[in-house]
Amino acid sequence: MTTPQRPRRPITDALRRTVVEDLPEIAWIGSEELRRKVVEAWAYALAESSFERITSLPAEGNPGIFLLKRGTQADHLRGVTRVATSIADEFLSAYPEADIDRDVVIAGGLVHDVGKPWEFDPVNRAKWTGDPSRTGLPSLRHPVYGIHVCVAVGLPEEVMHIVLAHSYEGDFLVRSLEAIIVHRADSLWWAVAGGAGLLDPKSDAILEGRKISPRRLKDQPGSR
Ligand SMILES: [Fe+2]
Repeated sequence: MTTPQRPRRPITDALRRTVVEDLPEIAWIGSEELRRKVVEAWAYALAESSFERITSLPAEGNPGIFLLKRGTQADHLRGVTRVATSIADEFLSAYPEADIDRDVVIAGGLVHDVGKPWEFDPVNRAKWTGDPSRTGLPSLRHPVYGIHVCVAVGLPEEVMHIVLAHSYEGDFLVRSLEAIIVHRADSLWWAVAGGAGLLDPKSDAILEGRKISPRRLKDQPGSR
């Protein structure tokens, strides 16, 4: 039997600083407490993993699926957060009577994939692929492991819900308004990345299943 993981390395201010450096959109969150907990969530998740910092995580949707040709997971997190925030801002300015919690959208965008250090960890992958009959493959997907991180650092329920519901786990729930925004921003981001030819051609079959045809990149005739 395998015991549950505990933080493998201490959560230091140096580690927290890398989170702030890798996710500058944290500064967009109005609440000081929420900013601090978003930093803490990523520092906690990294400390329980083999990854040095967020920019060490590969830019993939799931392990082996939707690999970006360049960049890191930070590019995805930041892109989704900016898209989600622009959706919220569009409605807040066009319909000032709409009650959208902008801070929850930003925080949710930044931590929606906070479980990925666990799901992408090469040590975990080796264990899970070694004998899936023991542990499952993966034992927990990143939206579920992300909940463990959220509980550990005390993120509010509204943000925790986004972490669980951003992916198809959320299809079993009624998504909050802010979770709808982050969920759509996340899937839109991958669809546009695929359509723009930014993904490794290994993802072409999945894109085809979604009726997305990757376009050639500019100034690179023939290259994909
Ligand atoms: Fe994502």
